[in-house]
Amino acid sequence: MERTYVMIKPDGVQRNLVGEIISRFEKKGLKIVALKMLQISRELADRHYGEHKGKPFFEPLVQYITSGPVVAMVLEGKDAVTTVRDMMGPTNPLKAAPGTIRGTFGMDIGRNVVHGSDAPESAAREIALFFAPEEIIEYNKNVDTWLY
Ligand code: TYD
Ligand code: MG
Repeated sequence: MERTYVMIKPDGVQRNLVGEIISRFEKKGLKIVALKMLQISRELADRHYGEHKGKPFFEPLVQYITSGPVVAMVLEGKDAVTTVRDMMGPTNPLKAAPGTIRGTFGMDIGRNVVHGSDAPESAAREIALFFAPEEIIEYNKNVDTWLY
């Protein structure tokens, strides 16, 4: 089973979308194996979004992601990285299909509600950045036998 890093961004928390977004992933069949709320520091934002350093949207992006609490989680399932990306929709909510999370809840590329790792390698990096190994819980759910 694959793992991915997912984060409800400050706008998602402020707009009371935490339950709705987690519920979508849960109902899909992705398993929550780690979950917490945190306030991202400037240093952590720099590391998380390191690939975008120097781009024109980098400073506003760091301002935004550090502006309030986020809800961070690790989700596990078959092709979890791609599954979550498909459920989120593309980066710009105005280009995202209406049924996706960004397409349903977003109006602006700089306020796109949710983050999901873009590849298994970035998932591993981001999971390690946000969670200590002991914060990730391995457990069995009976429902798994009905999903796969
Ligand atoms: P990116 O990693 O390209 O998108 P995604 O979140 O879909 O993996 O960019 C990171 C975040 O930066 C993105 O969620 C929103 C913000 N961003 C902008 O504000 N403007 C832009 O032009 C881009 C490409 C991203
Ligand atoms: Mg990205």
